Amino acid sequence: MANSKQQSEVSLVDLPAHVAIVMDGNGRWAKKRLMPRAAGHKAGVGALNKIIESATGLGVKCLTVFAFSSENWNRPKLEVSILMDLFVSSIKKYLPELIKAGVCLQFIGDRSAFSEKLIRSLVEAEEATKSNTRLKFNIAMNYGGRWDIAAATKSLLEDVQSGSVSTDDVNEELLSKYMSLSNLPEVDLFIRTGGEHRISNFLLWQCAYSELYFTDVLWPDFNGEEFVQSLQWFSSRQRRFGRTGEQVETESDSRKVGKH
Ligand code: IPE
Ligand code: IPE
Ligand code: MG
Repeated sequence: MANSKQQSEVSLVDLPAHVAIVMDGNGRWAKKRLMPRAAGHKAGVGALNKIIESATGLGVKCLTVFAFSSENWNRPKLEVSILMDLFVSSIKKYLPELIKAGVCLQFIGDRSAFSEKLIRSLVEAEEATKSNTRLKFNIAMNYGGRWDIAAATKSLLEDVQSGSVSTDDVNEELLSKYMSLSNLPEVDLFIRTGGEHRISNFLLWQCAYSELYFTDVLWPDFNGEEFVQSLQWFSSRQRRFGRTGEQVETESDSRKVGKH
């Protein structure tokens, strides 16, 4: 669990409602240690477990991580199959802890390309945690932001075709309802470890107004302290959503006055 120092360092008022993480740098972490890339992925699972503990300890309500992109199929066959096996074994290993910690698991992405064994373990994990409410924890696997938008558009078009939705009603709000994670708040804080400054086709729609945090720390080295640092950085940002800085300041002043 996150220690009390970590908790007191973050003002709970400023916590992001939803944090998304591109967990990048496993391969380079392993290479630096002259280990196979698989060792980096294994260490990455350990880092993720620590971040889930921090998130629940700090009161973050929603976390979405990128575990396998729709482009990661382009990797060597052996690495892909090691990753698929790691998904099955990690879910099995950590599920009891996640259930105990009150975590609700949801997987997003196109499952149709996965083995039956993996699909079964995803369904079982979702089923076993579905009534948990402490942390909504989403894992993106065979996920791509463009896939998400295309899949949402396809479902929406099917509803238009069947007559349950009229073309006149199609707008941003309606399309949002067809996207992955539509049951959750939009992403406030987007973290990418591993030093690259790119989105790599992660949550394109859901990150339209996210604060973007990039760190050189390789994912297996990312820990509770690093996570708290990213949350502190987030709380220092002024979110304007198109307005001017002065407007935002005036509004927050008047809110403060109204409180007292
Ligand atoms: C991220 O780490 C994990 C996955 C994409 C599955 P990488 O494997 O991309 O690590 P680097 O970028 O090669 O260091
Ligand atoms: C993004 O990392 C995907 C995941 C972390 C799962 P990559 O390492 O695959 O991204 P690129 O290819 O360097 O952009
Ligand atoms: Mg990478």
